Amino acid sequence: MLVRLLYASRARQPASADLLEAIAATSIENNAALGITGVLCYGNGMFLQALEGDRAEVSRLYHRIVADPRHEDVVLLHFEEILQRDFAACAMGHVHMGRVNTATMLRYSPHAQFDPYRSGGRASLAMLEELMAGASIVARAERRS
Ligand SMILES: Cc1cc2nc3c(=O)[nH]c(=O)nc-3n(C[C@H](O)[C@H](O)[C@H](O)COP(=O)(O)O)c2cc1C
Repeated sequence: MLVRLLYASRARQPASADLLEAIAATSIENNAALGITGVLCYGNGMFLQALEGDRAEVSRLYHRIVADPRHEDVVLLHFEEILQRDFAACAMGHVHMGRVNTATMLRYSPHAQFDPYRSGGRASLAMLEELMAGASIVARAERRS
């Protein structure tokens, strides 16, 4: 059975490009092996992540991510059984929210600044789906050396 989960969290420290790269490399490698797909967004010191895959695998990975000391205030925004994936092309796609245009942000948020805690689960998912359709999500298939 397929499920989709969305959560928001705050980086313990402003995330450097190196930190984002390290998370991306681990995620792509592990998620591909687990059959998990999704997207990780970062902006304003906050993460928004969507995970899709087998119910048990998504649950296990979510618990591992919650325990990661590099972020805190992890809040579950959305969880549902799904018939098909939205992010099938991405073991873990990436979006730098600073590069998303203001009109797109405002369509799904009360304010122009990225804040998934305020936007909530349904609007955040709709935003991710629009970004995916508009090819704003970077899907890296291979690990950089
Ligand atoms: C915001 C954030 C998102 C993460 N996303 C994933 C992910 O999608 N897949 C993954 O395997 N690890 C992800 N991680 C890293 C995990 O928390 C963990 O460090 C990694 O899975 C290695 O776990 P292990 O040391 O128990 O093997 C993420 C970490 C953070 C801070």
